[in-house]
Amino acid sequence: MNSSQSPTTNNLFFDKTRYEDRQLDDGHGEIVRFRAFENIVYVTNPIDIKYQSMNIYVPQAYFEGKEINSFTAETAPIFFPISVGGYMPGIPGAPGAKRMGSGMNTIFHALAHGYVVAAPGTRGRTNQNYTGEYTGKAPACIVDLKAAVRYLRFNAERIPGDTDKIISNGTSAGGALSALLGASGNNEEYGTYLKEIGAAPVRDDIFAVSSYCPITNLEHADMAYEWLFNGQLNYKKMAHHEMIDFHLKRTLIKGTLNESEASLSNQLKELFPAYLNSLKLQDIDGSPLTLNAEGNGSFKNLVAKLLSASAQRAIDQGIDLRRHDWLTVQSGKITAIDLTEYVSYIERMKTPPAFDALDLSSGENNLFGSKTTPERHFTDFSRHHSTATNAQKADDQVIRLLNPMNYIGASATTTAHYWRIRHGTKDRDTSLAIPIILATTLENKGCQIDFALPWNRTHGGDYDLNELFAWIDVISSNRMTN
Ligand code: DHB
Repeated sequence: MNSSQSPTTNNLFFDKTRYEDRQLDDGHGEIVRFRAFENIVYVTNPIDIKYQSMNIYVPQAYFEGKEINSFTAETAPIFFPISVGGYMPGIPGAPGAKRMGSGMNTIFHALAHGYVVAAPGTRGRTNQNYTGEYTGKAPACIVDLKAAVRYLRFNAERIPGDTDKIISNGTSAGGALSALLGASGNNEEYGTYLKEIGAAPVRDDIFAVSSYCPITNLEHADMAYEWLFNGQLNYKKMAHHEMIDFHLKRTLIKGTLNESEASLSNQLKELFPAYLNSLKLQDIDGSPLTLNAEGNGSFKNLVAKLLSASAQRAIDQGIDLRRHDWLTVQSGKITAIDLTEYVSYIERMKTPPAFDALDLSSGENNLFGSKTTPERHFTDFSRHHSTATNAQKADDQVIRLLNPMNYIGASATTTAHYWRIRHGTKDRDTSLAIPIILATTLENKGCQIDFALPWNRTHGGDYDLNELFAWIDVISSNRMTN
């Protein structure tokens, strides 16, 4: 109904005869040959086949009995790139040139490296059907990704690649969904939604998660933002219409918080220590990570330590950091950092509340709408302070389904063991506290996590594919020898 394409299947069996052999040239002598299986509807009861479909690409070598990087048709990891940005609908990805900048995209490089690529489409917050009903509000995005994973596993014997080695990758809202997919494997709370769309009745846990700057833990992100940015009154905000396509170049609107916004900032900041302390996080040495009522304490020291490690790596690579007066450097070593000065260096991007806007104007308000309501609140704080008429709050259970923090190591849940999370030191789209809480929780629950704050990176992802692929290769070979 939403698309002129006709469904390729009305059952869940992968048709290995429906493909095109292709090759792509990066213009610099690298040619990638692959078999393309495209627009595969991954559920039996689709609501929107444009988005509930997947492209699968397989390196040609695997049909010729050859290996790439010691992977074969049986052992190749399955790279699962999530195309969602801004919690908007995402169409299935395809190999080709980058949308922005020069060079080839991640899927091209993943195929060249020898991965099977399964690129799922996903419903998003603005999808509507022909009657005008919204069809992609939360939790549709995560339900679709789980259904796509189930399709792969249902067809494990028919699709090249190892379904025990599915590695999801995403940036921002896509990074959040990558984390949620990895955290919540097989959890029954998603069961009725999956049944409704006709997802394959098999497991949906994945092997590993790659997540760049996840915009996650949304119901605590406002307080985390003000814990970091409180006192920073000037902001550089993204123009509202640019949220519609996060790939657009951002033009920033400058402003200063007014009195009532500054007061909201103070109130939200005060809520953060109780939340952080409720998590009972521990540092790697087992000591508790906490905050006092003023927002100071060992958790804040950990944030400073991680920033300091990032700056130290930059110095060790020969980058001159003398202009950063928030850093104290002695004989090439960082000896102190000033977090307040750091925050004025990176600058505030969002006005309080950063995510659950009082006038329901944020993308996240739109994500938490319903079939008939375009936007809703998702925190009690913003519901209480709402300036919108007849504002509602989304169901607690739906809010819960979008937050990976609820599922890491939970009972009857298979959380991915391997995680790689990156959040740039100049990324202001969410508080640094958010990825640090996520990474620490994963570590405390026994997951293996590779976490870093890349120096001076702004909001974005896929900027270090060599390192990402090296990490995937190592964890995948661990698995083979275990
Ligand atoms: C994205 C960025 C945001 O600032 C946000 O609030 C949600 C999503 C994004 O780039 O996907």
